[in-house]
Amino acid sequence: VDEVSRDGAAVGVRSVPLAGGGRLRVRPVGPGDVDGLVALYARLSAGDRRRRFFSAFRPDRAYFERAAGVAGRGGFGIVALDDDGCVVGDASYELLPDGDGDLGIVVSPAWRGWLGPFLLDTLVDAARRRGVPNLEADVLATNGRMLSLLRARGYATLASDDWVSVRLIVGTAGDTPVWPEAGPGRPDAARPRLLVEARGGRTSVGSAAEARGLAVITCSGPSGIRPRCPALAGRPCPLAAGADAIVVVNAPPDDDWQALLAAHRDLHPGVPVCVAPRGGPPVAVSVIERAAQRHRRARAPKVSEEQGGASCAQSTQYAGAR
Ligand SMILES: CC(C)(COP(=O)(O)OP(=O)(O)OC[C@H]1O[C@@H](n2cnc3c(N)ncnc32)[C@H](O)[C@@H]1OP(=O)(O)O)[C@@H](O)C(=O)NCCC(=O)NCCS
Repeated sequence: VDEVSRDGAAVGVRSVPLAGGGRLRVRPVGPGDVDGLVALYARLSAGDRRRRFFSAFRPDRAYFERAAGVAGRGGFGIVALDDDGCVVGDASYELLPDGDGDLGIVVSPAWRGWLGPFLLDTLVDAARRRGVPNLEADVLATNGRMLSLLRARGYATLASDDWVSVRLIVGTAGDTPVWPEAGPGRPDAARPRLLVEARGGRTSVGSAAEARGLAVITCSGPSGIRPRCPALAGRPCPLAAGADAIVVVNAPPDDDWQALLAAHRDLHPGVPVCVAPRGGPPVAVSVIERAAQRHRRARAPKVSEEQGGASCAQSTQYAGAR
């Protein structure tokens, strides 16, 4: 959707030619779309409603009136319409207090296979233009399509309260998400930041660090399907560069992970890196917390590489800490 204005007014329409003839139109959602949204969600199976709402919730008309007015609350939404004017997909984000967008997306069953990625890319592009750095979403751990959709866009994992869902975050402007910027009404942005690099999205060290008040983002580093790790490609990683400490958990002794450690040393000097090798002792969160706090305090003036690295290495028991 081109030419997106901040108030959602002067907006463009994207028209997509379809292989079998006809066109699909994608445009910002508006008050006139309430009936179309009601019909779209009425076509969803119970399973789809569960994937979207984590329950069998059947939204009422007021829900869709609110959804159609998302731009009035600082968020943004788009709808896809077929040749008959039926809404066959919607994607939107509500603005969160940290400046990110909270993502929701649904594609009509008959249109799945490509429309989800297309709508998500269109929404990500619109969010970037409007200065929204990341989109976040709660996703059921069993929602394979949504996980694949976000994985292809380089998701990282935020803390979540349960084991049934994961809270994922994708950046709108690059290969990775970015840390929230500090600002009024954003106390979370002032917390020391811990980047956990681990296979899978959840680690005990990450949960323990969250519980102690650190902001934690977990990424899969070089592992996983289609990794988009910028550091391995020789470019600085915004998550690593903005972290106050990095913990590499269960690192297998393979070349990719060794290359990642070398990349941190070269591209993100000064950020303490602790390595907990597979099969090693449990991670002492207090040590990581101290390293992160020290680095945060020392950010201006900037801490030297030796200071930051050595303090973590000296005070941890993990092989490979630097
Ligand atoms: C999630 C949703 C928007 C995705 O849109 P879509 O058009 O179906 O997307 P795709 O068919 O391209 O599938 C997305 C990815 O999942 C993969 N996929 C397809 N079926 C899959 C399955 N059963 N299990 C795992 N992955 C699957 C696709 O290969 C694709 O991956 P790729 O990009 O690597 O090729 C859509 O399926 C939907 O509306 N689901 C119900 C509501 C929902 O879950 N919303 C999200 C709430 S957080």
